[in-house]
Amino acid sequence: MAVSWIFRFLFFTLTVTSVMGKVKNAGGVSGQESDLVTNLPGQPAVTFRHYAGYIKLRQTDEKALFYWFFEAQNKVAERPLVLWLNGGPGCSSVAYGAAQELGPFLIRSNSSELLLNKFSWNKAANLLFLEAPVGVGFSYTNKTEDLSKLGDKITAEDSHAFLIQWLKKFPNFKSHEFYIAGESYAGHYVPQLAELIFDRNKRASKDTVINFKGFMIGNAVINDVTDQNGFVDYAWSHAIISDRVYHTILKECDFKQDNQTRACMLSFRGLLQAYSDIDIYSIYTPVCLESLDSKRSRSKLVTAPKAFTQHMFKRPYMPMPQNWTIHTHHAAMLSGVGMILLAPRFL
Ligand SMILES: *[C@@H]1O[C@H](CO)[C@@H](O)[C@H](O)[C@H]1NC(C)=O
Ligand SMILES: *[C@@H]1O[C@H](CO)[C@@H](O)[C@H](O)[C@H]1NC(C)=O
Ligand SMILES: *[C@@H]1O[C@H](CO)[C@@H](O)[C@H](O)[C@H]1NC(C)=O
Ligand SMILES: *[C@@H]1O[C@H](CO)[C@@H](O)[C@H](O)[C@H]1NC(C)=O
Repeated sequence: MAVSWIFRFLFFTLTVTSVMGKVKNAGGVSGQESDLVTNLPGQPAVTFRHYAGYIKLRQTDEKALFYWFFEAQNKVAERPLVLWLNGGPGCSSVAYGAAQELGPFLIRSNSSELLLNKFSWNKAANLLFLEAPVGVGFSYTNKTEDLSKLGDKITAEDSHAFLIQWLKKFPNFKSHEFYIAGESYAGHYVPQLAELIFDRNKRASKDTVINFKGFMIGNAVINDVTDQNGFVDYAWSHAIISDRVYHTILKECDFKQDNQTRACMLSFRGLLQAYSDIDIYSIYTPVCLESLDSKRSRSKLVTAPKAFTQHMFKRPYMPMPQNWTIHTHHAAMLSGVGMILLAPRFL
């Protein structure tokens, strides 16, 4: 069995419905004004406009993808258009990227109001969050069988179809420089969509051409060998592990192999221990090490990979849904549950 150490899964426990507010519906009007969000509950006053709604992909099928679009905080006409994709597969870009990471309105558990994000990317760009493929977040299909025909290829095709239709609704952004960014499993979604846009642009008409300029992926899933080597290199180049641990791992581990030696596992353990009081997803962020239930010998590895803690530390890092499904190549229907997980398997 292929051993793949590093996977990232995104799950959500956010109920986004409650914060989406009323999307003004002009009924049948395909113009962007019908998607303008005018009274989002708990939203702080802002000067930029935002829009949310569905884009039906094709007349010939019954798929619709949900988006939330934030105009830039200033100089809207000059700023690029950036599409953000979360990964998963199955992760909601609204519930995670927009509401927890880079969107202007953050959802926090200590408040029913939305928190203004001072690091929002719409300070620099017009920011478009897309939930893809169908089945993720608010995106849907009326044909149940579509949900069993998902994968990277269909995700890229459908996201491309979305962009063509979205730009028809927002023609004022058609000439803007267009970039794609994403994280985690979007390490697959982003370059695959980029390639499709690049190829389709070659024979596109004025209507369907996309002014594509580039892409960016962070914390990306590429493939196991690359990801595992990257994980080790990152830890070393950021002074999380010593030269000794690093060189031992290089000597003992061959990530191209399906199984690892005991010496490799032991050296890898050194790396995991080095992360024990560091947030693996944000190494310079202070971590709260004191918790009310610290007596319950919880791992301090706040965002620890489940399998790391399972296999290495023999204790759970957080409650997990029991019946979750792991798909690495196909979109899993995980909308509704949530967190980030970097999970190696030692099977
Ligand atoms: C799905 O079906 C509903 C009810 O018939 C319809 O209003 C909606 O437009 C359909 N959605 C798509 C994407 O075709
Ligand atoms: C919630 O916590 C954040 C920090 O995480 C803080 O900035 C904010 O003021 C808090 N909000 C409330 C309502 O306590
Ligand atoms: C990997 O597994 C195979 C059989 O499953 C075994 O023969 C081999 O010794 C293992 N290699 C290592 C490095 O453990
Ligand atoms: C998991 O699913 C099975 C079958 O659907 C069910 O019997 C079982 O109770 C579920 N377990 C949990 C913990 O939800």
